[in-house]
Amino acid sequence: MVGFKALCFGLFCILFASHIYTPVPDNVEESWKVMALDATAKTCVFTALFLEKIGIMRFEEFLSMVFMLDYTQPVSDEYITVTDNTFIDVPVRLYLPKRKSETPRRAVIYIHGGGFCCGSFKQTAYDFLNRWTANRLDAVVVAVDYRLTSQYHFPVQLEDGITAVKFFLQDKILRKYGVDPNRICISGDSSGGTLTAAITQEMQNDPEIKHKIKIQALLYPALQVADSNLPSHLDNEHGILLTRDIAIKLVSLYFTKDEALPQAMRQNQHMPLESRHLFKLVNWSTLLPEKYRKGHIYTEPILGRPNYLLPGLLDKRALPLLANDSQLQNLPLTYILTCQYDVLRDDGLMYVTRLRNVGVQVAHDHVEDGIHGALSYMSSPFHLRLGLRIRDMYISWLDENL
Ligand SMILES: *[C@@H]1O[C@H](CO)[C@@H](O)[C@H](O)[C@H]1NC(C)=O
Ligand SMILES: *[C@@H]1O[C@H](CO)[C@@H](O)[C@H](O)[C@H]1NC(C)=O
Repeated sequence: MVGFKALCFGLFCILFASHIYTPVPDNVEESWKVMALDATAKTCVFTALFLEKIGIMRFEEFLSMVFMLDYTQPVSDEYITVTDNTFIDVPVRLYLPKRKSETPRRAVIYIHGGGFCCGSFKQTAYDFLNRWTANRLDAVVVAVDYRLTSQYHFPVQLEDGITAVKFFLQDKILRKYGVDPNRICISGDSSGGTLTAAITQEMQNDPEIKHKIKIQALLYPALQVADSNLPSHLDNEHGILLTRDIAIKLVSLYFTKDEALPQAMRQNQHMPLESRHLFKLVNWSTLLPEKYRKGHIYTEPILGRPNYLLPGLLDKRALPLLANDSQLQNLPLTYILTCQYDVLRDDGLMYVTRLRNVGVQVAHDHVEDGIHGALSYMSSPFHLRLGLRIRDMYISWLDENL
């Protein structure tokens, strides 16, 4: 057993060393720490790919196990009562301020990232962020988990989110937690941003929902897969913490375990003929500001190659950028944060343009030295000043607008 552990440790060191020299852009702070985090992440991913290749376990199963090492229990403190609960059958972690309040409170519903395949509100970083939010805003925070793509595919993740949000928006539940129905926000990062954007679209366009979401916040969200050759995909092909290849693998798993999808997606030949009309909704040559288009030439996608039928790829409930203009019009005030060194950067940038084009108010923060997933690095030993900076930008926007 000791021998096996030593062997594992040795392998880890070799893999780590072979990944440590990823160049980090000059303007990124704490470059040594970022390099070490990137090497750790890439070592895990490489191990997951290797284990999948030799048939020991699936890629997403190994990554899920790694994420689970970081799960926390609900721990109340002097200011906030923290409990785990379920809304119908969806797990939630509630953060309720202890201080007495004369008036009903604001509320934030938070949906975590993790590529749809891993993670939970139980992760240290999310527990920290949600507790911080409850404390700073004197708000009720509801962190929502959803079933992951290691076992379930779209639309299960979205349905779990909608179930939890609808449950929370009932009068009797809002009263129970002392929440003001007119001051509710929904937020999420990365794949949690995908779900947040999709849930908000569903809620705002559903005549049966009485209490509407006041604001939504999307932190480096994924919002489309129709075009896998966006400038940000090409510029960050070997990006820090998230490469184009891994982003494609993860987002494919949202729809299917069939390897044909990611293979076609890498060539940008994964969309069926009947999706032609959707491409104007994700056309980066019209939707990206000049600055981000520079040095790239738009090419029409090659359609009709796939020999699989995946309705999800055409569904705005999976990919919020596929909603048409009239479906976007009713959206609430929106905060979008994008990071320069992020494969997903252009998804967020294009959503900013699409929403503004139909008159939705958008506050947009672009982090020039930002990398994907920085919010997951806010607590020791993986603590980045960048993560704290993004947290503070997001929280101060919430405080002013919720
Ligand atoms: C995308 O926009 C460019 C103009 O910038 C246009 O030439 C091209 O046909 C558009 N493609 C689609 C699929 O809408
Ligand atoms: C948007 O999509 C909806 C639902 O498919 C459709 O009823 C509506 O006509 C579309 N609107 C526009 C402007 O294309």
